[in-house]
Amino acid sequence: MNKRLLALVLAVVMLMFVFSACGGSETADNGTGDNAAETPSGSEETGDTTASEQPVTITLAQGKDVTDATENTIQAFETKYPNIKVNFQEMPSESDQQHNSYVTALSAGDDSVDVYSIDVVWPAEFAAAGWVEPLDDYFPQSEREKYLQGPIQSCTYDGKLYAAPFFTDAGLLYYRKDLMPTPPETWDELYNIGKQLMDEGKVEYGFVFQANQYEGLVCDALEYIHSNNGKVLDGSNVVLNSENTIEALDIFKKMLDIAPEGVTTYIENDSLVAFQEGRAAFMRNWPYAWAVVNSDESKVKDKVGIAPIPKGPKGDATGKATLGGWNLAINKNSKNKDAAWKFVEFVISEEGQKIQAIDGGHLPVLQSLYEDPDVIKANPYFESMYDVLINALPRPVSPFYPQISESMQINIHKFLMGEFDAKASVENMTKEIGEILAQ
Ligand code: GLC
Repeated sequence: MNKRLLALVLAVVMLMFVFSACGGSETADNGTGDNAAETPSGSEETGDTTASEQPVTITLAQGKDVTDATENTIQAFETKYPNIKVNFQEMPSESDQQHNSYVTALSAGDDSVDVYSIDVVWPAEFAAAGWVEPLDDYFPQSEREKYLQGPIQSCTYDGKLYAAPFFTDAGLLYYRKDLMPTPPETWDELYNIGKQLMDEGKVEYGFVFQANQYEGLVCDALEYIHSNNGKVLDGSNVVLNSENTIEALDIFKKMLDIAPEGVTTYIENDSLVAFQEGRAAFMRNWPYAWAVVNSDESKVKDKVGIAPIPKGPKGDATGKATLGGWNLAINKNSKNKDAAWKFVEFVISEEGQKIQAIDGGHLPVLQSLYEDPDVIKANPYFESMYDVLINALPRPVSPFYPQISESMQINIHKFLMGEFDAKASVENMTKEIGEILAQ
């Protein structure tokens, strides 16, 4: 940064400091608020100076983290940038609850949060609404190439980048390797092994998964649908109404026989608690669960293996995981955009991604870490399952995704609760999603 620019930036910082002190703002809104184009990042020089001249507090809103990754990331960041403090606003675990509270705040122009951790299914909606800052200038193409392209795509809307990928996710089958020689490859095999282990009294439940009426239900249901060669959309046509999907949903429902009675209220953590206590033979969950099942508090430490999601009778060679993951977006109204970007840049850097992968069990978005010995040591299956992990299938991409999801959540949950059969559930979804897309 040249001296005149630096002087200008400092003057703006001072002014904002005075302004925020007078205004009695609760957060120290004394960042520069510069827009990205004036201080392109990637250049350590510019970013560091701007972000470290005056103490700034930025707020990160993110769902509950049951691992140490968030705390350790913030600590490492604050050590590196002592003048930027990160206030962690912990949100509920459920993606939908986070979504609703962010939509309420952002649509009212709220600026109390600088960085939002957003689910991979939201960027189109947030970008179309103009709630988040485009990051193209902060995150140049040459840098983006180092990242997995699926997650980068999920941050892109209408040719612009509206978030940076934080970590990626793919549904996995966790199984008790001490109770079976090899994991099942089909849903039928899973059911039979689970049932047998229950009958033998080795476990209380065959299988734990997510069947509450929320976003996670859509993720689980899509794994049955995709693993039986069913589909939701073909371009903009709704193609759910097929034999493959109906059969897939019936298989899903059959799993309730070997699951806890309350599984239709389970989210990820409920399944994790049951599995970690040694009560279930199988669990469907995301990669973060690996760090938790192998922690010292876990009753199944070192007794767990990971396999691809099983396939249905009409499926391909292996089952299909649902693609999940989270991206970091900067509030369009943030007064600390440069400091916010510094934080995002740190989280997606090698150092930040290693903390996420090692302490949080998260799948890195930085490609090179899939060959990093420390990361592989903490998560040995990253190597053997690399193809499965990065070929997970996305949920429908649309600015109307939340409405599509709501229709699926309601109709699949009602079907699981026995209110109607799979065919009726599929017919309802087809009609409703068609109407949503036609608006
Ligand atoms: C995980 C996934 C996210 C998904 C959510 C559903 O957090 O990363 O994409 O929507 O689970 O519960």
